Amino acid sequence: MRGLNNITDLSPAEIDDLIRVAEDIMTHPDRYADACRGKKLATLFFEPSTRTRLSFEAAMYELGGNVLGFSEAQSSSAAKGESVADTAKTVSCYADIIAMRHPKEGAPLVAAQHAGIPVINAGDGGHNHPTQTLADLLTIHRERGRFEGLTVGFCGDLKFGRTVHSLITALCRYSDIRVVLISPDELRLPGYVKQDVLQASGTPFTETTDLLGVMPQLDILYMTRVQRERFFNEEDYLRLKDSYILTPEKLTEARPDLVIMHPLPRVNEISVRIDSDPRAAYFKQVLYGKFIRMALILKLLNIHVKEE
Ligand code: NCD
Repeated sequence: MRGLNNITDLSPAEIDDLIRVAEDIMTHPDRYADACRGKKLATLFFEPSTRTRLSFEAAMYELGGNVLGFSEAQSSSAAKGESVADTAKTVSCYADIIAMRHPKEGAPLVAAQHAGIPVINAGDGGHNHPTQTLADLLTIHRERGRFEGLTVGFCGDLKFGRTVHSLITALCRYSDIRVVLISPDELRLPGYVKQDVLQASGTPFTETTDLLGVMPQLDILYMTRVQRERFFNEEDYLRLKDSYILTPEKLTEARPDLVIMHPLPRVNEISVRIDSDPRAAYFKQVLYGKFIRMALILKLLNIHVKEE
């Protein structure tokens, strides 16, 4: 396998394997401490990031490897007009694997076509974010112990929220999933995700603007930030940004075992008063993101560590 562009590049069985390895890393980090000795990860981030880039870097360091890269387009030759293809060819001379984030949809795929090493899509525009999905799946697995039979609510910016597109794509491959889409009219899930993913897989889904009305049905509530950087004008962003703000009061009708998720960063979609609620799982997602990325790096570099 050359890399990871879309979550469907991994079969559900391969995702199960990654989860198993991530959990083994969590319990036996010492076994993995030298697994990537002498290997280098390049993080090519043309867009801002805290968690994704730092968790990739921490992942590689904890595997005994090294990291090089850049965290803004302005400090790379992209600022001089270099193409993504040429950047990928260049970095292939220095590193063993690439994690790339780019504002243009499809840029990591182009990089993968030109790089001689595996390329991981670390978020491409408003399109996909498969490694956040791996972190989300590990979180769901640890919180609920299964993927089947869950009702999952996605709330906020479903139009531009790439984490939403990738997680829906992943979940639709499990049986008996129900999806509830909660957003303002202007920020509804794109038609292509509805048709090619939800309808194509026969996954039942509903669309609503009313979060409180659907709250009692939900096993998982996946909140998202309104993606300011993808708006064409600031006025629309300002009008829509506070469409949904989750507060403890709004959880009165929620299930006692609801799992509240958010890929982060949050702006003000979730009140900080919810952080101490045992149902809040968003900082667990952050931690699990590192372990599942460690498992992914091992898989893509074809490194096998003996589990006992
Ligand atoms: C997300 C992203 O970059 O798409 N962040 C992340 O990687 N955890 C979500 C967001 O920026 O809103």
